[in-house]
Amino acid sequence: MLKKGMKVAVLTGAGISAESGIRTFRAEDGLWEEHRLEDVATPQAWNANPEMVWRFYQARRRQLLEVEVNPAHDALAELEEGFGEDFTLITQNVDDLHERAGSKRFIQMHGELRKLRCEECGHVCEAMEPEQLKDDYVPCSNCSNQRLRPHIVWFDEEPFGRWTCEAAVHDCDVFIVVGTSGHVYPANNLLPIARHTGSYCIGVNLDPPLNVDFFHEFHQGKAGELLPGLVKEWLES
Ligand code: OAD
Repeated sequence: MLKKGMKVAVLTGAGISAESGIRTFRAEDGLWEEHRLEDVATPQAWNANPEMVWRFYQARRRQLLEVEVNPAHDALAELEEGFGEDFTLITQNVDDLHERAGSKRFIQMHGELRKLRCEECGHVCEAMEPEQLKDDYVPCSNCSNQRLRPHIVWFDEEPFGRWTCEAAVHDCDVFIVVGTSGHVYPANNLLPIARHTGSYCIGVNLDPPLNVDFFHEFHQGKAGELLPGLVKEWLES
């Protein structure tokens, strides 16, 4: 279904980083790294218990130093090389594994663990130095605020680049979705948009996601095992 000159958009979720050792969100016990999502991933949680939320995200940020890209991230970087400007990668993931694999045209709609943001002056900074990865708060280098927040989109907050993502999906000929359960709006609305605007929709996921019926083609299994072969086929077609 993929031919040179076609526009390709890809949406990824936590499942693509699972084989790198980063836990997905909706595990069977309903907990994410021993926490309920709403206890650590909402503005309300940050206001009520900033220390707990901060320690939780510092642990996630430190984990980035221990994980490596897997063959699924590599495969998408290769697909981008083949399609160049006709390719857009949208990820819900806040890790940096797509970038490390060599992806360039990507949007991190739920934010980036590597960065922190000042709620006073809006300053956003890369913060991966050892002293910025401890459990102490990190002060803003641009104003007097002593407590930066994670540069993460929490529930009830607006995703980054939302309209750019929707436009890319609206315009694409082929939409590929990898490793997402389809629970979280507005990311889960991109597949219906693609389908209703005439794109050919391909899914790759360990389990059928909530919105599986929107796919023309669904490949069930691990992204790291399936994507390299699929990308090879797509680039040869
Ligand atoms: P989920 O944890 O909801 O879903 C992960 C999906 O990946 C599931 O459908 C799994 O079956 C699938 N999966 C697991 N391992 C896989 C593998 N090796 N290969 C392929 N698929 C695999 O994660 P998301 O849908 O990404 O938001 O969650 C969406 C958002 O919910 C996240 O971005 C996060 C969370 O709230 C924020 O942090 C803002």
